[in-house]
Amino acid sequence: MSSLSPHTDAVTFFGTSRPELLAKAFGTPLYVYNETILRQNCRDLMQLSSIPGFGVNYSVKANANPVLLRILREEKLVVDAMSPGELYMDFLAGFTPEEILYISNNNSEEEMANALAHGVIISVDSLSQLEMAGRLNPGGRVMIRTNPGIGAGHSDKVITGGKATKFGIVPEKMPEVLALLERYNLTLVGINQHIGSLFMQEDGYLDAVAILLSLFETLPESIRRQIGILDFGGGFGIPYHKHAGEARLDMKSLGKKLTDMLSAWRDKTRYSGRFLVEPGRYVMAEACVLIGRVTAVKDNGLKHFSGTDIGFNQLMRPVLYDSYHEIELFPCDDTPRPSLVQTVTGNICESGDILAKERELPSMREGDLIGVLDAGAYGFSMASTYNQRQRPAEILINQEGLPRLIRRRESLEDLCRTVAGLR
Ligand code: LLP
Repeated sequence: MSSLSPHTDAVTFFGTSRPELLAKAFGTPLYVYNETILRQNCRDLMQLSSIPGFGVNYSVKANANPVLLRILREEKLVVDAMSPGELYMDFLAGFTPEEILYISNNNSEEEMANALAHGVIISVDSLSQLEMAGRLNPGGRVMIRTNPGIGAGHSDKVITGGKATKFGIVPEKMPEVLALLERYNLTLVGINQHIGSLFMQEDGYLDAVAILLSLFETLPESIRRQIGILDFGGGFGIPYHKHAGEARLDMKSLGKKLTDMLSAWRDKTRYSGRFLVEPGRYVMAEACVLIGRVTAVKDNGLKHFSGTDIGFNQLMRPVLYDSYHEIELFPCDDTPRPSLVQTVTGNICESGDILAKERELPSMREGDLIGVLDAGAYGFSMASTYNQRQRPAEILINQEGLPRLIRRRESLEDLCRTVAGLR
């Protein structure tokens, strides 16, 4: 019989351990990260371009566990933050203000003041937020996020370029940007953009890079001289359809075209600042498998259901975006597991609580474990306590192949820690 867990076997994901041992020791559901894969992802990205000043600004929203962030810092990545909470996590992981860009959207005054008080560079993405930055920090530094007019992504919900979206300042507004910079004596230290999340072709991203570079050239010389950061955003996709052998985004080709474009442009403009990319998913997604337990199986005459303890509060992506994640089986016994078309569900009281719809998978039994692949980005970071189910634990398989707890499972007390007024 072919392996029921071809991907995790091929990459020896669980190191010296096995899913059953991890489930026994730490319970399920359980986010399991692999440090070797995580570091390799970082290195692949850091090598994307050899152009001087190139760097990787990891987008913390994908996963903010500070133990993982600390590993990224060792690999020389810098980080973003878009909320006081993300900023707090960045600092907890040891990043210094110089290693953090605060790339925000619709800040309250308190939030912006908090970021400024921590000495990080803030990027604003509307004229009103630029004005707020000026009021709060006259004479200070600021970045702006532009909207290049093109978007990309796996769902309308995550496309962030183009006028249909709330993000960025459109190029037509640059005269007003310049006027606000002057009015508040602000120094424009950088420009950033982000066209959206999860593309598997390089073209849109490179087109957007070219648009940012041209925009820079339209700015007055006095402003151009101030700019030391050009951040092109993230969005690099990973192949979620691993069992079908989905092709990877060609990072070699992307990196080469990016480098060629940037070096020609640098020669032309004499720009000597930094060039950043801002990936989240590419760093984290494939470094994690979410393990869950099969708790019940059911055939209702029409459909076959495999029920697990991975409700959509633990992993929202399938429900929110119809996202596809491969599932591998770690059977609890050695009975044969013929293929069966089945719907894999969680334990939340909604019919939409589905991890995999009518998918052909090895038949499952109560007591089996499943592994949901590519769960490291927008997995735990989007988890909730809906149905009053506690958020899960996270563990890290270190480079020696040994597991270590990096976040404990929430307790019942955690669920009510913020309750007030209960007499
Ligand atoms: N920079 C900015 C300003 C962003 O808004 C994002 C993602 C990134 C960078 C990183 O994008 P990435 O490289 O991870 O694609 N929850 C969705 C993805 C939302 C992305 C939001 N912004 C999902 O699970 O697919």
